[in-house]
Amino acid sequence: MRVDVVTIFPDYLAPLELSLIGKARAAGTLQVEVHDLRRWTHDVHRTVDDTPYGGGPGMVMRPEPWGQALDELAGPETHLVVPSPAGTPFTQATARALAGDPHLLFACGRYEGIDQRVIDHAATRMRVSEISLGDYVLFGGEVAVLVVLEAVTRLLPGVLGNADSLLEESHADGVLEAPMYTKPPTWRGLDVPEILRSGDHGKIARWRREQALLRTAERRPDLLAALEDGDQGT
Ligand code: ADE
Repeated sequence: MRVDVVTIFPDYLAPLELSLIGKARAAGTLQVEVHDLRRWTHDVHRTVDDTPYGGGPGMVMRPEPWGQALDELAGPETHLVVPSPAGTPFTQATARALAGDPHLLFACGRYEGIDQRVIDHAATRMRVSEISLGDYVLFGGEVAVLVVLEAVTRLLPGVLGNADSLLEESHADGVLEAPMYTKPPTWRGLDVPEILRSGDHGKIARWRREQALLRTAERRPDLLAALEDGDQGT
């Protein structure tokens, strides 16, 4: 998968060198390039923003540098992803869909966002998704790109040592995962549930399913309601 990220703070994306994302890059599973939006400015101040039409606080990113950046970086298979608190919610289902795309191009907005015409114009030429991490506001899209790329990279074939871990984790089947334990069997007076040490795999699977449903009912009743509506794995 090829990934391009356009930002005015390329250093924010430095963690993409680390850990399993760094490994996936080294292995060639993922090719990432981070670009400074100011490369596509042409004035001495390398201006990327201006005051909003209609008034109001803050600044909006001007369309010209974004237009040129997208002209240069987008190809026939590009999916433009724009993190924004006004986007549709990012979920495990979104991550699965993005993991099937050959080219993701992330546009990181700052300030009050990017001039809407950039997104509207891009949508006439490529797939565009505005996505939100949650109902809160970040300074900009950079941290959201790190989150999205981490969720997507671990779904790429060969990235996780044991692909089975994808089957049982939270959100794989629309519910939260059951609690997990390792050695020692007793720690600070707390015992690992007996059933997990019984060796009875059928019983263990049923217990885990039950725990997963209990946890989900307690913490995320919205997920159970979605499951009942037949809306799996969101
Ligand atoms: N940019 C600013 N806030 C954001 C959010 N909640 N999700 C994604 N991108 C953002």
